[in-house]
Parts: sequence; structure tokens; C-alpha cells
Amino acid sequence: MPQQTPGPMDGVARPPAPADHLPQSVEVDRRAVSEDESRRANGPEWDRYADEYQATHGEFLGDIGFVWGPEGLTEAAAGALGEVAGRRVLEVGSGAGQCSRWVTHRGGTGIGVDLSLRQLQHSRRIDEETAVQVPSTQATATALPFRDATFDVVFSSFGALQFVADLDLAVAEVARVLRPGGRFAFSITHPTRWSFPDDPGPDGLVASQSYWDRTPYVETDPGTGTVTYVEHHRTLGDWVGLLAQHRFHLVDLLEPEWPEGHERVWGGWSATRGRLTPGTALFVADLLP
Ligand SMILES: C[S@@+](CC[C@H](N)C(=O)[O-])C[C@H]1O[C@@H](n2cnc3c(N)ncnc32)[C@H](O)[C@@H]1O
Repeated sequence: MPQQTPGPMDGVARPPAPADHLPQSVEVDRRAVSEDESRRANGPEWDRYADEYQATHGEFLGDIGFVWGPEGLTEAAAGALGEVAGRRVLEVGSGAGQCSRWVTHRGGTGIGVDLSLRQLQHSRRIDEETAVQVPSTQATATALPFRDATFDVVFSSFGALQFVADLDLAVAEVARVLRPGGRFAFSITHPTRWSFPDDPGPDGLVASQSYWDRTPYVETDPGTGTVTYVEHHRTLGDWVGLLAQHRFHLVDLLEPEWPEGHERVWGGWSATRGRLTPGTALFVADLLP
């Protein structure tokens, strides 16, 4: 797992999913990457990682559980989606559907979209184990396979948004499938983490690169030259501007604090860092009527 050494990971804040894997030797780079290339890299990457991800984090996530990030903030506590009972709710980057299953359990209609077939197979497995079904489909956040104004709520819990190059298109897609007045809530790696090495220890507290440098983080297989993983960064200001541009009214921006006694390490997320700096940003916005 060479990328977990401080050198190549300097300044990179991978999201909580792949932060603790990196199975094969890869070259790490910072360069522009297209939407196509991002998608072609991240789909197979999540297919490869899905089994380990679910084995490692499934219990923390809960089969019918909704957490917004490694701090463990639950939707029951945050209330970012508003009332879900009776609502049609789409999860973008739904993984094994834990959050959507919670929505369905609460009386909503939870539906999932994910790029990774293997993640969706886990979702189906948990559907069968819990008898709470989350209809899910394989698709990308930048081309949602739904008609206009289909959903009351769209959300993403560390899902697709930091993996897409064309974020403008992804947010436009959310706005398209939401009904006017609908709610959009999403959690991402807190943008300030981009400045720090992705290290859960004290080294992860020393800023080493520019917060304003949006050049994507790219991993490449040195044998084939194939891009195997991409992550994209936007500043807080970028997010606010993008939401406004797509006619969203920002209702809240939650920055979950690290809970007392919570010692779980998830990739670069830890008590050591979490007590001092935010690791997750949770945006809550409504589409203007
Ligand atoms: C960190 S997981 C989050 C899943 C779930 N919310 C959870 O907490 O386990 C990120 C998910 O986003 C999916 N993803 C990545 N890029 C995507 C894209 N362009 N469109 C849809 N899903 C994507 C991945 O396959 C993965 O399942």
C-alpha cells in the first residue's frame, strides 16, 4: 500500500472509501482528467474495492443506517433531508444502499444510483438479508436515468460528487430530476482537507499544498498507463457558487464535530485530526420553486 506513505499522498484527501485501500502499486499524479476518464477509472476501482469496503465499514454504516461521514453523524440527528415519509428520494453514489434503506424504513421511497456493479450487488445482498428493498441501478451522476422532476429529495453521502470531473453537469442533473422546491443534501470530504496529507496521524495536521489548487488527484497503473482512480477538488466557494448557479438556495452547511470518545480511524479520518479540523462538509440546499 505504497500510497499510504506520506510522500505520494502529500496534500491529498481521498474520500473515506478508498482512503484505506490502494491494493496495487500505482503512480500518483496531479493533472487534468476528463469526465470520461474519471468514470472509466472510478467504476472498476469501486468494483475492485467493494468487498473490502463493505467488510470493513458495513457494520459502522449499518444495513439500515444513515451516516453522513466518518464522524458518525446520523441523518436521524442531522435532519438534513427533512421529512422523508411519503417522499421519493434518490441517492446518488448509493453504494450498498444503507442510507436509502434507512429512508425506505422511515416510510420514504429510496432509490439508488451507483457506478459500481459490485457495490450494487452488495446492495441487493443486504436487501435480501434485511427484507428492505432499495431499487438501484447502475448509472453515473452526470447522466441520471430519470425523467425531469421525479424526486422530492436527492442526496449523496460521500457518493459520486467528488469523483466527477464535470460537476456542473452533475449538479444540473440533480436540479433536473428534482421537483421545484425539492431538497438536495450531500456530504463530501471537507474541502479544507485538500491542503493536508491524507494521514490520520499528526502529519495530517500540517498543511502542505494549496487549498485553491483544483488540479485533480490521479492514480495510474504504471504497467499499462491506465488511470485507476481520480478525485476532484472544489473549494467551499466553488460549491456555493455552483449551487446558486443551478437555482439552489443554500439552507445549511454542517461541519460535523468529532464526537468525544469516537476513536475509529477511517483512512485519513481520525480523532487526532477530527478534534482540530473538520473532515466532512454537509451541504443542504433547496431548489427554488
Ligand atoms: C464512499 S462510497 C459512498 C457510498 C455510500 N453512501 C456509503 O456510505 O457507503 C462512494 C460511492 O460512489 C460511487 N461513485 C463513484 N463515482 C460515481 C459516479 N460518477 N456516479 C455514481 N456513483 C459513483 C462509488 O461506486 C461508491 O459506491
